[in-house]
Amino acid sequence: MTHFRPVALHHASRLVNHGPTVLVTSAAGGRRNVMAAAWSMPVEFTPPRIAVVIDKKTFTRELVAASGAFGLCIPGAALRDVTFTVGSTSGRDVDKFARFGIASQAGPELGMPVIEEGCSAWLECRLIPEPHAEEAYDTCFGEVLSAAADSRIFDTGRWSFRDDNRDLHTIHHLGAGNFVTAGNGIQARMLPGD
Ligand SMILES: Cc1cc2nc3c(=O)[nH]c(=O)nc-3n(C[C@H](O)[C@H](O)[C@H](O)COP(=O)(O)O)c2cc1C
Repeated sequence: MTHFRPVALHHASRLVNHGPTVLVTSAAGGRRNVMAAAWSMPVEFTPPRIAVVIDKKTFTRELVAASGAFGLCIPGAALRDVTFTVGSTSGRDVDKFARFGIASQAGPELGMPVIEEGCSAWLECRLIPEPHAEEAYDTCFGEVLSAAADSRIFDTGRWSFRDDNRDLHTIHHLGAGNFVTAGNGIQARMLPGD
């Protein structure tokens, strides 16, 4: 007897979208902003490139189009309320950094706001213009020009999720404000075979 049941197609994305939720930061013309995004992924090792879905209705999209750049910050579990809040409010009429007490600094390469307090890592990306993908799928591609991570959880290229760094564990959106944190690492090995 199978335990599998059909999944409503409007829930299909939830089956694959629990990579780390990120904060997309942006700045242009004296304005700055931050929003949550659950839909991001790497698309190339060298040069390092990523893709992130940024809805065309967001203020973030406006700033990204104006500056040709964006930041991605990886919030830890301690920032779950901030993440949910900046993902549920628009920065069009308010500076969310000031309103919600989010400390940021200018990134070294592109001057994008990057958040270290409560985050495990950040990346600064140059927008790779792909007008069709942006218009049709709200998908923005970026080349990563600088990145940094908190060495208590990411060091020499490896994540280390431990009990003593729980506040920095990445958060993974299941929908409607529900998150799980990363942890319980398991090591895979190659199956024997021809
Ligand atoms: C957990 C979470 C994940 C989200 N993921 C995305 C996403 O991947 N892409 C997107 O366009 N909006 C996403 N949103 C919605 C935006 O964050 C939301 O529209 C935000 O208010 C836009 O802010 P802005 O208008 O200040 O740019 C998400 C919201 C939450 C709470």
